[in-house]
Amino acid sequence: MDAATRISDLPGAIGRTVTVHGWLTHLRSSGKIAFLQVRDGTGFVQAVLPANAVDEATFAAARAFDQESALVLVGEVVADARAKGGVELRLSGVERIAPGGAYPITPKEHGVEFLAERRHLHLRHRGPWAIMRVRDTVIRGVHDFFAERGFLRFDAPFFMPTAVEGTTNLFEIDLFGEDSAYLSQSGQLYAEAGALAYGAVYTFGPTFRAEKSKTRRHLLEFWMIEPEVAWLEHEGNMALMEELVAYLARRVLDERRDELAALDRDPRVLEATAEGGFPRLSYDRALELVAERGERLEWGDDFGAPHETILGDLHDRPVLIDGWPTETKAFYMEPLDGDPTRVKAADLIAPEGYGELIGGSQRIHDLELLERRIAEHGLPREAFEWYVDLRRHGSVPHSGFGMGLERLLAWFTGAKHLREVIPFPRMLTRLTP
Ligand code: 4AD
Ligand code: MG
Repeated sequence: MDAATRISDLPGAIGRTVTVHGWLTHLRSSGKIAFLQVRDGTGFVQAVLPANAVDEATFAAARAFDQESALVLVGEVVADARAKGGVELRLSGVERIAPGGAYPITPKEHGVEFLAERRHLHLRHRGPWAIMRVRDTVIRGVHDFFAERGFLRFDAPFFMPTAVEGTTNLFEIDLFGEDSAYLSQSGQLYAEAGALAYGAVYTFGPTFRAEKSKTRRHLLEFWMIEPEVAWLEHEGNMALMEELVAYLARRVLDERRDELAALDRDPRVLEATAEGGFPRLSYDRALELVAERGERLEWGDDFGAPHETILGDLHDRPVLIDGWPTETKAFYMEPLDGDPTRVKAADLIAPEGYGELIGGSQRIHDLELLERRIAEHGLPREAFEWYVDLRRHGSVPHSGFGMGLERLLAWFTGAKHLREVIPFPRMLTRLTP
């Protein structure tokens, strides 16, 4: 097939006759003229076919094209101030390569389950299209951010001998009936080995959590970005969280304004975030603030969805919470200087009810303390032997965090549920398509 011009490139081709490869999303016609709405994955454009531009049979055939017909269109690119991309296509020829068939997703409203069942097709539509393009920009932004700062991309394994983030949501896999392994909840422990080997690393891979409750913030499979840096301490770790999220907000504003508009997402939220300057709260202050709003918790309780929503909505950009009780957090966290009841951990909470975007901490680098914590948590010492061994050989303070890609994207795009921001979501209630 001839080289085609992408719809996203049409504004630069005004006055030229081009070929476009696309699919029909909507058709309206009279005896004299047909208007074909076409998408090609890079954008959407209206193609106008006057009856007198082609022979009678071609015009009659075009008027009968069904939705999702695959088309090769030839026409002149003309400026049109009323059109979304500022151009339309004045056709001189159109050929159908494949029919659309009885396409189930029509312009009328469909239910969430109906669309989820047909996710393989729904991805073609404007909402998912815009979201996947923001996703692509964020993923590229993550790699650029770390590359620009000299981090090494480091891949952690997905089959794990141990849990990282507690045992309640582990997926266990049968290894030939002999041993069992777990699907990774986090690449962190391996990233720590990477940091002590290469200074600053980040992992970016799928992670798995057997979340048995239905919420709009949890998937069984999600993608996590986990930087880990040797010699970096708690304050620097929080600064890195802020820098990353502000950078990604800026990147989306620079590259995906049209997509945000297609999603009716107000860019002002991202503009505030791109400025950085995230407010900070101590855990104790956060407890007071939720109590003032009628949600009383005990010292040591973790925040649930309603509490995170209250805390996130205090400001126009994400908020950092630190000073966490040791008992609330994972075994590997470094205690506060002179206060073993608290750890050097920080969570970053999004506004607008999107909850926790990031969890991170400084890690214990002292051998004896780590050994004690593993024992206190009743963890299988043997499986952690290599992790403990890192503390025997040039152990230094190091810190890192994990950012859930889908949490960030749901918030950036204003999605109602995390399932909207990953191509094929995996949830308690859905494993297909
Ligand atoms: O707070 P979490 O459990 O932290 C860790 O896993 C650390 N080991 C990370 C580290 O320090 N390297 O998870 C990190 C983030 C959360 O803040 C949230 O954004 C996301 O992962 N997350 C989920 N996203 C979607 N679905 C789920 N079920 C998620 N569970 C956590
Ligand atoms: Mg967390």
